Formats: sequence, structure tokens, C-alpha cells
Amino acid sequence: MRQSSLVVVANRLPIDDSTAPDGACEWRRRPGGLVTALHSLLRQAPATWVGWAGGTGPAPTLPDVDGVRMHTVPLTVDDLRDHYEGFANATLWPLYHDAVEQPEHHRRWWEAYQRVNQRFAAATADVAETGAVVWVQDYHLQLVPGLLRALRPDLRIGFFLHVAFPPPELFMQLPRRAELLRGILGADLVGFQRAQAAHNFAQLAVRVLGLPATDRQIVVDDRVVRIGSFPVSIDSAEMAALANRADVADRANRLRRDLGSPEQVILSVDRMDYTKGIEQRLKAYSELISDGHVKVRDTVLVQVAVPSRERVGQYQILRERVEREVGRINGEFGRVGEPAIHYLTRPFDRAELAALYRVADVMAVTPLRDGMNLVAKEYVAARVDDTGALLLSEFAGAGAELSQAYLVNPHDLEGLKQGLLAALRARPDHVRKRMRAMRAHLRKHDIHAWARSYLAALDDNGSLLSRLGTT
Ligand code: ADP
Ligand code: G6P
Repeated sequence: MRQSSLVVVANRLPIDDSTAPDGACEWRRRPGGLVTALHSLLRQAPATWVGWAGGTGPAPTLPDVDGVRMHTVPLTVDDLRDHYEGFANATLWPLYHDAVEQPEHHRRWWEAYQRVNQRFAAATADVAETGAVVWVQDYHLQLVPGLLRALRPDLRIGFFLHVAFPPPELFMQLPRRAELLRGILGADLVGFQRAQAAHNFAQLAVRVLGLPATDRQIVVDDRVVRIGSFPVSIDSAEMAALANRADVADRANRLRRDLGSPEQVILSVDRMDYTKGIEQRLKAYSELISDGHVKVRDTVLVQVAVPSRERVGQYQILRERVEREVGRINGEFGRVGEPAIHYLTRPFDRAELAALYRVADVMAVTPLRDGMNLVAKEYVAARVDDTGALLLSEFAGAGAELSQAYLVNPHDLEGLKQGLLAALRARPDHVRKRMRAMRAHLRKHDIHAWARSYLAALDDNGSLLSRLGTT
């Protein structure tokens, strides 16, 4: 078994199988914030990524991707249903996102969550060198730090939660709250997107486990577990370089012509998820049309909504509702060759996404709750000429950082409409000033800065950082 000094553990591997036109199996990068964030970092390090390759049955053997070893963990049909679709995405995901949909609790799901976490911990123990740094990611694997520490006390273990962490009142609903907290506390460093999340976690450690805790550290047995906020980011330079490419600029021009050369293009890019506020946004847009504030000939909305977690009931219901609403709005307000909404569900490659960002005069990112939201950051990084207005939810982690965006409360329909109108009608010099400030922020606070600050906090003696070349 080949071993590494840096091991990333995440439910998903950064690639997914898709079938090429000639029937061959090929691997492509998956949509999703976690993969986007870590992909650029790991290309620089001799690391192993432990994760699930999608699908069920025996784990496939995968080639290295950009020099990173792919170590697959298999899931059975029952694991997929009860761990991934069940406990991870129908208990934890809704609960951690303000319970905007009702979380479900089933004992069988909890058993699967324990079983799968155990399997990930064992796989990680196999591929980690003595004294290696192991970085466990996200809500699917909250028991792994504790399980791994029991197997391999020599390891330096970090845990980072990419999604929001809820207020104590909500977390307390979880029947197995104490076990989950203890699992996370197996790490040496627990990272969150926002300081409020670290505060919530510390409060729970006191309340549920009776541990001495501050917003910076928690004492567990004879160990000190450090906690803190590390807002995740993107490879801003890579996105800017992509957006600057001549072929991407051509593609953007063509897209605008294909859209009927409207005066303004509004863009939204989401996974099809009820946390993203897609329905509220469609309602705001359609009311602006029916109120006469927006004319379909002049303004179009491009809504990209790539299907996600398609076997989970709440996601199926959402997709049906969104598609019905898009159909209603286009039926009511569109004309032949002039739909009010261009609705796309395909995954795009990075260059196509960059072209879409370039074409968007207004980017509407209005989740009801989001740990960070990398789409908002990608849009800013792609606006290389400093134009473009970002409409951003206060409930996205990105809202706390990008204060020059047009910030809205997506639960407030009138506020959402006013925010969208303000972004559409903003004076170009104001837009430019805001965009310039946000781009400057992102150039400094990019994915490399994020990884550096997290790993520096985790890896006291700095040996890993110097190998990664991020010092
Ligand atoms: P989440 O983590 O909830 O999926 P984020 O906004 O943080 O939300 O991250 C989404 C990531 O997925 C971004 O990097 C975005 O570019 C990518 N993505 C979203 N939709 C698509 C799509 N249709 N095709 C390709 N990539 C996509
Ligand atoms: C969010 C989560 C990730 C997840 C991604 C895509 O970014 O934080 O952990 O991988 O959504 O969701 P999926 O269920 O397809 O992995």
C-alpha cells in the first residue's frame, strides 16, 4: 500500500465517471464547492485523496489525477440509501441549513453513518504515513476524526466543515448529538466557515458534553482541540486567467447574441438544492416582470440548476416545482424565440462557466443558507474588467466577506425585488467601484491563502507547508 504524508478525506473523490460519446468511461470534475476548493491545492502536493467514486459495488481502481492518488472507498446500495441519501443529506444537510426543509431521523440511517465513517477511518489509516497530516472534510464524515485517532494516535488530524453549522437550539434536535460532537473533537483543529459557527460549536461542547470551552479551544480529556474560522475560497488567479482567454471572450459574445442581445443578462448558477433559494428568486423575477419593472425583451434570466442528490425526495419535489414555475413564467411572459428564463441543467466545463460569468451583468446568488458559496466568488474573479453587479444573500458565508455586493435577505420577497432592481439599475461607476474592491479582496483571500492559514494552524512545525510550496 502506497502511503502519503498528506491525506485528504472527503465523501466524494474530485472526479466522477461519465460516459464519453464513443461509449468509453471518462472522468470529469464534479460540480460542488468542496471539490472546487481542494482541487487546486492538491495539484501541488504528493497527496492521497480518500473518497467515494459514486455508484455502488466494489471500489474501482483509479489513476492518479494531477499527481494526486485516488483511494476509493466503496459504498453498498444500503450505504448509499442510508448514509449518503439518508443521514448525510436528509438529516444533517437540512438541519445544518436552518431546517429550511424538515430533517428526518431514522435509527437505521445512524447505523449506516457509523458504519461508513468507520470504513473511511480504516481506509485512511492504511494510506497515511507515520506522523502524516490528515484533513477530514465535511458533514458526511464527522465521526472520522475520533475513529481515526483511536486507530492512529500518531497522526495530525484536521477537520473542516464546508457547510453552515447550526445554532445550538437546532443541533440539539439530533438524537445522537453527543456522539457527533465527540467524533469531531477527535481532531486537533476544527475549522468552520464563520466565527459564529465556531462559537455555536463551543457552546454545544459545554452544554452537551460539559467540556471547558472558549471560541478558540476546547479541552477534551488531556488534549486541547483548537477551533476557528477559515473562510474557504477559490483559485482567483486561475478563474481570472480563464476569463481573460480570447476563446472565452468569444464564447461570451456568442452567448449574448444567442440570448437575443438583451440589454442586461441576469445569471444564477446553483446545484438544484432547496437551500439555494431558487424558487424565491424566480418569484421575485416574475413579479418584477408582471409589475412592469423588467421587460423580457431587454432583460433575460439564465438559470443554471444542475440536478443534485436526485433520489432524495425533497430534491425531486424541488425540481418539479422549479420546472413548473419556469414553464409558467415562460408561458406567461415569453414570446416565440424570446423566453423570459433560459433554464439549463447541464454541468458545464470551466471555460463555459467562465464565459457565462463574463456575459452576466448581474449575478444573482441568493441562498436561504449557505456555508460559503463559491459561485459568488467565481463570478467576481471572472469580472476582469471590473464590471458586473453581484446580488448576494446575507445568509451565505460569502455575504460576510463580500460586503460591497448588493446584499439581500432572500426570505423578504420585496427586499429581494428591490435588491435585484438596484443591481440592474446601478450606475456603472458605482458598480465598478464595488467590483474592484471585491476583486482586490479575492486576490488576497484566495484558495492558497485559505489552505495556508488552515494548514499552518494544524501543522505546528510547518514541514508540510514547506513541501506544499505554500509558505
Ligand atoms: P455547493 O458547494 O453547495 O455546491 P458552491 O457555490 O460553493 O455550492 O459550489 C458550487 C461549485 O460547483 C462551484 O465551483 C461551481 O462552479 C460548480 N458548479 C455549479 N454548477 C455547475 C455546473 N452546471 N457545471 C459545472 N460546475 C458547476
Ligand atoms: C457541497 C458539500 C460537499 C458536496 C457538494 C456536492 O459543496 O459541502 O460536501 O460534495 O455539495 O454535493 P454531492 O452530494 O453531489 O456530493
